[in-house]
Amino acid sequence: MQNLIVALTAVLPLAAAAPYGLSQRNSTPGCTSISFGDFAWTIEDFVYHASYVFSTPAHQIASGDVAFNLTHPAFPEEKVSCTAYSTWLTDFFYGNINYDCKVPEGSGSETSFSFSRPSGELNINQTWTCDDQDPQYPITFHGYGTVNLTLDCKETNYQNPDWQIGQIYSTRNIDCAPVTLPLTPYSKTAVA
Ligand SMILES: *[C@@H]1O[C@H](CO)[C@@H](O)[C@H](O)[C@H]1NC(C)=O
Ligand SMILES: *[C@@H]1O[C@H](CO)[C@@H](O)[C@H](O)[C@H]1NC(C)=O
Ligand SMILES: *[C@@H]1O[C@H](CO)[C@@H](O)[C@H](O)[C@H]1NC(C)=O
Repeated sequence: MQNLIVALTAVLPLAAAAPYGLSQRNSTPGCTSISFGDFAWTIEDFVYHASYVFSTPAHQIASGDVAFNLTHPAFPEEKVSCTAYSTWLTDFFYGNINYDCKVPEGSGSETSFSFSRPSGELNINQTWTCDDQDPQYPITFHGYGTVNLTLDCKETNYQNPDWQIGQIYSTRNIDCAPVTLPLTPYSKTAVA
């Protein structure tokens, strides 16, 4: 199911004009062969948390957040940090927004993700560059991955039994156990 397209000549002028455009850091030996191979990203400690607070019986403040780290086996030292925050009631994440992840300083890679709380679908896009074969012509890869996460979530509720103005009326929290899993891209492209 791997769909690998190598367009070697079409973009050479561009690559020659900015040979290190995406790769400030020299990639590790084996980067190219790992990237053409059957590798998997590691999704580490994916967590979802939601909080619904009623400051009065009629006023709700609610938000959800997700966070996880991602690593690519060709860049084992580079932990990409992915986080998102939303106040869009009631599930906060619907798979329709791409969030950019934070890469370590000097990294030449870019990662984004989308997540849907109703279906659990997590989509990953990553762009990275390997220059271990011919530093003159680094190869830029794009990888796309998708997985339906099954989250194990707990809900805790609190209702103030004797509410008065200025106090919290009620809170509801949803916390899911962290999930760590490998994710194999369903599609990759490579451009030299
Ligand atoms: C991601 O990794 C960093 C550095 O190791 C750590 O501080 C952070 O808690 C991790 N994030 C998640 C969601 O596990
Ligand atoms: C990933 O890339 C595809 C194709 O460019 C795009 O349709 C999709 O919205 C992107 N998803 C994320 C999570 O960035
Ligand atoms: C995720 O679930 C949706 C809907 O149930 C399904 O269409 C899709 O194929 C699943 N994706 C994966 C990667 O299993």
